[in-house]
Amino acid sequence: MNEIIVSMENICKTFPGVKALDHVKFELRAGEVMALLGENGAGKSTLMKVLSGVYTRDEGSLKIFGNEYGDLTPKQAQEAGVAIIHQELNMCRHLSVAENMFLGREISKGLSLNNAKMEAEAKKILDDLKIDIDPRQTVGDLPVSKQQMVEIAKALSINAKILIMDEPTSSLTAREIEDLFRIIKKLKSEGKGIVYISHRLEELQHIVDRVTIMRDGQYITSMDFGSVTMEQIISFMVGREIKEKFPRVECKKGKKVFEVKNLNAGKMVRDINFSVYEGEIVGFAGLMGAGRTETTRAIFGVDPKESGEIYVDDREVEIKCPMDAIKNGVVLAPEDRKKDGLCTKLSIRHNLALPNLDIVCNKLGIINNVKETKLCNKAVEELRIKTPGIDVDSGNLSGGNQQKVVVGKWLARDSRVVIFDEPTRGIDVGAKVEIYNLMNELKQQGIAVMFVSSEMPEVMGIADRIIVMCDGRITGEVMAKDTTQNEILTLATTFEDKKINSLSGKHSYRE
Ligand SMILES: Nc1ncnc2c1ncn2[C@@H]1O[C@H](COP(=O)(O)OP(=O)(O)OP(=O)(O)O)[C@@H](O)[C@H]1O
Ligand SMILES: [Mg+2]
Repeated sequence: MNEIIVSMENICKTFPGVKALDHVKFELRAGEVMALLGENGAGKSTLMKVLSGVYTRDEGSLKIFGNEYGDLTPKQAQEAGVAIIHQELNMCRHLSVAENMFLGREISKGLSLNNAKMEAEAKKILDDLKIDIDPRQTVGDLPVSKQQMVEIAKALSINAKILIMDEPTSSLTAREIEDLFRIIKKLKSEGKGIVYISHRLEELQHIVDRVTIMRDGQYITSMDFGSVTMEQIISFMVGREIKEKFPRVECKKGKKVFEVKNLNAGKMVRDINFSVYEGEIVGFAGLMGAGRTETTRAIFGVDPKESGEIYVDDREVEIKCPMDAIKNGVVLAPEDRKKDGLCTKLSIRHNLALPNLDIVCNKLGIINNVKETKLCNKAVEELRIKTPGIDVDSGNLSGGNQQKVVVGKWLARDSRVVIFDEPTRGIDVGAKVEIYNLMNELKQQGIAVMFVSSEMPEVMGIADRIIVMCDGRITGEVMAKDTTQNEILTLATTFEDKKINSLSGKHSYRE
């Protein structure tokens, strides 16, 4: 058996009101991929932040390559060969790819930076990994998936021997995931140890050797991946059985609630027409980059519309900005929670109250504390947001719990149309079911639900009707009950231009 390169024993870490780690043990060997699994808030990211020196532990022993470390600093961790790719992207958006990769260890020429050299080195690393990104590009201009690839390249450029990937695939396309797995296998064959955190359990089989499972800040078990079933893993994670992964409720289809007519907004939103009726969830399927997020943004008034009409309960509404949308009962839980969905520096209370000030304020515009607290506690309870209280900074919540806050904002309002853009990204199996139940509840209340998702099984399992988009257009509409993955995939790759069609191998759907 390979050498043990990380050994953590009895690790404890407490945050105000939360025992995030309670005597946890963890072991990693050279040349293995260890999956670290657990529900949202189980302590996975915290444990890895202890290993990479981001957090100092309160108790416990930590050995890297046999050397015992006291208070480990990030720099010491890096020197010991530990690199971490954080769950929430951590890049300087206004700097270039190369500048980000060499942040803190810039190459200089005399008194100034040697940009040319850094760009050349960055290019070499990216080429090595077969990642097609120009090192001179500004990181903020790249899509999230590409930013994530840059993070990986950056970690590798430091010549890490222990690589921690915290939810690396949550915003990658299937093709990019394949690339990532190729890279992981290469690193593994070079004897590097990899810790892999993911809520996408179905992908583990491709790369994982062992699993460590945590629950509520405690170590539950470690074992060979080959020796357990997925059901066993899930029950270790959640401590209970999950009966139905995709709970569907049948409702009678009522009157038309929401209609979008001839909507155009830039290249990715072209002549969009659809309606949503009472008692149904309409799924939006498609490849990443098909224009679904752009469509939701144009509807919600984030991006300007070139033309088009929007009707709520048969009444035409004018939406020029998100406030117009909210006033007319149309709300959006956006895809990129950190950028668009949440003020991470604000408390859960303030995040939840912000779009609901009209509800929690009195006539003079003064916040009624009792009302505010009630509204917030209701969202926390209904969505089971794991937190010691509503006055905690939302940025301190675990990733999945942050997502719940984004969704929770809209619970208090009497909305007519709720748009969810990839609502279950980074959410654990149990909490996913909670989000589906929430959508079902809205559907039962006669609220129009629009559900954008890149996960084929969930769109097919939860939506009643599925609209498929490709290249900014709607290419088809199917009933979830009667369709197949293949049919959706065909519609999702129906490009207008045959030349593009021949390139469609570039895209692939996430199964
Ligand atoms: N800096 C912090 N301050 C206060 N509490 C924190 C901080 N970081 C984490 N926590 C709390 O510690 C607990 C464990 O969080 P952690 O982020 O490690 O969970 P996780 O297993 O990574 O979850 P997820 O799957 O949602 O990412 C949570 O209750 C979280 O709210
Ligand atoms: Mg985490």
